[in-house]
Amino acid sequence: MPEKTLQEILDFVDSIPEFMCGRNEAKFLYELSKNTKGLGAIVEIGTCAGKSTIALAHAQKEKHGRRINTIDLSEHPEIKSNLRRAGVSKFVNRITARSSAVAKNWHEPIELLWIDGDHRYNGIVHDITCWSRFLVVGGVMAFHDYPSVGGRVVKQTWMALYRKVLSRPDKWRILSDREGGNIFVCERITGRCDEFNSKTVLRQIIRDIKGNFQWYLEEFKGRRLQSKGKIP
Ligand SMILES: C[S@@+](CC[C@H](N)C(=O)[O-])C[C@H]1O[C@@H](n2cnc3c(N)ncnc32)[C@H](O)[C@@H]1O
Repeated sequence: MPEKTLQEILDFVDSIPEFMCGRNEAKFLYELSKNTKGLGAIVEIGTCAGKSTIALAHAQKEKHGRRINTIDLSEHPEIKSNLRRAGVSKFVNRITARSSAVAKNWHEPIELLWIDGDHRYNGIVHDITCWSRFLVVGGVMAFHDYPSVGGRVVKQTWMALYRKVLSRPDKWRILSDREGGNIFVCERITGRCDEFNSKTVLRQIIRDIKGNFQWYLEEFKGRRLQSKGKIP
């Protein structure tokens, strides 16, 4: 079977009867995937009928790259046949589970993270928290439905992005918003991205105490030696 061109792939994505990722968004995701440098895995949260999965996977197929790890709570009845008809089945690793459960057993660094799963505030915050910590520096995190769908502001997406990304310019560089439709893209710019949780705070306190203890010890020794006239 001859390889499909990008136009054929976009036509096919367009023909899938789900009101999800549109043609321009599919093209934009294709380009994001095509621009990956092989620094880590590609993860998609929210497979549904596979429209965005096909766009991401077609780019990897063209460059003989990686498989797309795509996660969904349930299996869409058409997903297998859609991936097969697009000729990308071999470039897709489907995982049927809750995204947060998959994150618990995940170890690989990620270069491209596409979040299009639970669009509620807590769901988005949770996905960013669980998954962004695997993103390599220079890796990209993209979201769907920011900031509007058909003119209606998706407040929950915006609020979650504000809390986790827009208010953290030290950690995230905004690459584009509303790209290809409603896609928001940011790049990880520092080594550690997850917000401090109680464990990391506790570790930092212990480190500080140890550091200070060493300092006091040295000060104390120094003063004793000084008082004994052993050091000037
Ligand atoms: C908007 S659709 C994804 C559309 C797809 N990315 C596309 O463009 O064709 C959202 C999907 O996310 C899935 N989903 C919702 N919450 C999820 C979660 N916590 N973990 C995994 N998948 C989830 C839903 O089952 C649904 O199929």
